[in-house]
Amino acid sequence: MRKTIHSPRRLRGSIEAPGDKSISHRAAILNAIAQGEAAVENFQGGADCLATLRCLRALGVKWDWDSQGTLRIQGGGRFGLRESADVLNAANSGTTMRLLAGLLAGQPFFSVLTGDASLRSRPMERVVEPLRAMGARIQGRAGGARPPLAIEGGSLRGIRYRLPVASAQVKSALSLAALYGEGETALEEPAASRDHTERMLRAMEVEVLSEDGGGLRILPPQRELTPLSLRVPGDISAAAFWMVAAAVHPDAEIRLVGVGVNPSRSGIIDALVGMGASIILEEERMWGCEPVADIVVRSSSLRGTVVEGSLIPRLIDEIPVLAVAACLADGETVMREAGELRLKESDRIRTTVLELRRLGASIQEQPDGMVIQGVGCLKGGACGSHGDHRLAMTLAVAGLLAQGETVVRGAEASSVSYPGFWSHLEELSSY
Ligand code: S3P
Repeated sequence: MRKTIHSPRRLRGSIEAPGDKSISHRAAILNAIAQGEAAVENFQGGADCLATLRCLRALGVKWDWDSQGTLRIQGGGRFGLRESADVLNAANSGTTMRLLAGLLAGQPFFSVLTGDASLRSRPMERVVEPLRAMGARIQGRAGGARPPLAIEGGSLRGIRYRLPVASAQVKSALSLAALYGEGETALEEPAASRDHTERMLRAMEVEVLSEDGGGLRILPPQRELTPLSLRVPGDISAAAFWMVAAAVHPDAEIRLVGVGVNPSRSGIIDALVGMGASIILEEERMWGCEPVADIVVRSSSLRGTVVEGSLIPRLIDEIPVLAVAACLADGETVMREAGELRLKESDRIRTTVLELRRLGASIQEQPDGMVIQGVGCLKGGACGSHGDHRLAMTLAVAGLLAQGETVVRGAEASSVSYPGFWSHLEELSSY
């Protein structure tokens, strides 16, 4: 599908971003192994989270939508899953595959996990190796480095493990396996990644201890997990598209209602504010174990910045759209220590550089990031998503800010994480 975008005279409006993708996956998976029913409001209906729900159904979990659109999920306890009669398909979703690999490693049955062409090319050794160290029996292509993965579930033992890269998917996979391990599991990361799993596990009465220096210890629970009903916060990774559009557009004011502002995710706010963006958080409150706020973003003049170090895992998914802001900021922006971007749904360093150049960006690819010179204005043109949802939406934002007409090929990829994206774009542009 192609979408044609023009820069609107004004950007105005109030948007409820879709439910957070990371929290939705976790709410489904953890409640599936709790004992009893949970109601999950604002569950994200994008293709990734639906892939998780389908896999859970194949594993015998009962769930449905009620008349309000709330997900009702019936947990059968830690050992309530049953062997799937077929291969489990995670589609495009790395979170589905990696978290389920951790969960299924400890089940007394056999599972096979596969995905689409993009997911089948993504690295799995980062979960397979530590899971094997816990006693898991997992085979896959390239010695277990690539899906499909075949998991002969069985008994596990806790480990002490330092993750080589900051990764919430790996941390969460190992935390799920830890629920089935004998003895405690201790995990450390080089920098803090998103902590939704830990927050949710604690709320479900699992003992998750924080260690000095950011590590965590998980003790296998003595009793079943308590079901956790929640309202999923709006996804800051989705809201980020409108934050950049509003900060850069000369006549903009956008209110983003009920967005998750967990500090392990809010690096995009820090980066944009550091560039000079006018961003105000209002009505800060808690939805269960997660902080949320309404975020008001207005037109601003941005200057270049440096994005590196512990900020990277706090805005990893927002780097492509932050690159658009950098193109339209004054001066140079350097993004480094972000080599993980090459391992996402596309090689996001390569694809972001390639596609933004088509729109007049001055942007250099680096092994672990990019260097961007502000160019004053982008020029509309033809560009493509490479089947990557974040790239499709990044290019749409570039189109909102460019002179002339922009055509985004592969625009349908946005439905992986933001099914209502194009109607929100129209809504905000139509004032
Ligand atoms: C996610 C973690 C991040 C992120 C991905 C979702 C999660 O990946 O890029 O979109 O839900 O845990 P890594 O954990 O691999 O960095």
